[in-house]
Amino acid sequence: MAFELRWGIISTGRIAMEFVKDLLVDPASRDVTDVAHKVVAVGSRSTESAQKFIDAYINGDNNVKAYGSYAEVFADKNVDAVYIGTPHTLHYENAVEALNAGKHVLCEKATTSNAAETKSLIKLAKEKKLFFMEALWTRFHPLTLELKKIAEEGTLGDPVVLHADLSADFHIEDKPLNHRMLDPKLGGGALLDLGPYPMFWAMLALYEHPSNKNARPTSVTGSILKSTITDVDASTSWTVNFTEHLKAQAILSCSMIAQTAHFGAVIRYKKGNIKVATPIFRPPSFTVEYFDGPGGNVVREETRSFSYVGGGWHFEADEVARCIKAGKIESDLWTHEKTIIIMETFDEVRRQGKYVLPEGVEKVDRVQ
Ligand SMILES: NC(=O)c1ccc[n+]([C@@H]2O[C@H](COP(=O)([O-])OP(=O)(O)OC[C@H]3O[C@@H](n4cnc5c(N)ncnc54)[C@H](OP(=O)(O)O)[C@@H]3O)[C@@H](O)[C@H]2O)c1
Repeated sequence: MAFELRWGIISTGRIAMEFVKDLLVDPASRDVTDVAHKVVAVGSRSTESAQKFIDAYINGDNNVKAYGSYAEVFADKNVDAVYIGTPHTLHYENAVEALNAGKHVLCEKATTSNAAETKSLIKLAKEKKLFFMEALWTRFHPLTLELKKIAEEGTLGDPVVLHADLSADFHIEDKPLNHRMLDPKLGGGALLDLGPYPMFWAMLALYEHPSNKNARPTSVTGSILKSTITDVDASTSWTVNFTEHLKAQAILSCSMIAQTAHFGAVIRYKKGNIKVATPIFRPPSFTVEYFDGPGGNVVREETRSFSYVGGGWHFEADEVARCIKAGKIESDLWTHEKTIIIMETFDEVRRQGKYVLPEGVEKVDRVQ
């Protein structure tokens, strides 16, 4: 019998819709038999919106509760795990409430407004013995698992330089000032929204590489170009060095006023390259180029393509269910430490780029 995880969803925006649609995909379609998913409650700031969401995306299922508040989802005894799909700066308080109500949590990226909030959430989850994970869905894709095997089996040698970009033209000039990409109170801008993905590839290819021996980044430099509309970042670039055991550098960027760079992500090793196709949050393929020796010519090239039923968010849901079934409070693949490193990097990039969130947005002080 599959272990069935009962989900409560908070918020009814775009990503909550994508996630829920994937929860309804038959796990057998991706050869999963050990876990299954059931949506039991949807919470929104209005009951009408929750009901509309259930009607549109959960086939109007009468067994799914429509709540006009998030608190009612946290209080629902039938909910095992809460999925948080609100804007970034609300994640902290939403997750605290969910954990205090005894629920496991899968929380959208960017996990919180700053690293101090993330650390405080992780501490709470540990105290409560509850599962907590940043919803970094790309980590669980079949493509990522396969790429990691090839990257780490030795032929390519150590990674040296990684380039990754995720951008999208949000047409912010047409958006209201309280849109989550523009409003500083909602952590608007490119970095917190798009930045997790270039950073993810740096974490996967450099931080996770066995030669790095789990060493944290040794330095971060950042540059922010502010929007002309509100005081959030329109385009941001940053570098992350890993020099304790590797001699490797990640060169990362994101923009909300330009289309994404065509190269997606390129990982350059001593003896070859891996080119990850766009979009880097859900790449359809990757190509490995093998050199005839260190710094040599490309002598062999292999492309791997991947497809599956659904949008790709169900793989992270399966991970959550498996971890909870096993009594774990943390995923081995996307650990608390990786989320903390990402948030610390973003704190540093915002500090260097002088992107200060408005007073009161950060609920836990940065210095803690
Ligand atoms: N993993 C991914 O692929 C992915 C993709 C896109 C976004 N995200 C992340 O998911 C989060 C939400 O993004 P989204 O694109 O789904 O945003 P969205 O469409 O604007 O939805 C956000 C939802 O949050 C709720 N909300 C609560 N307070 C709000 C406020 N003050 N202003 C606006 N909405 C508020 C609303 O739901 P109710 O009215 O029902 O309460 C709203 O529909 C962000 O943190 C983002 O980084 C992840």
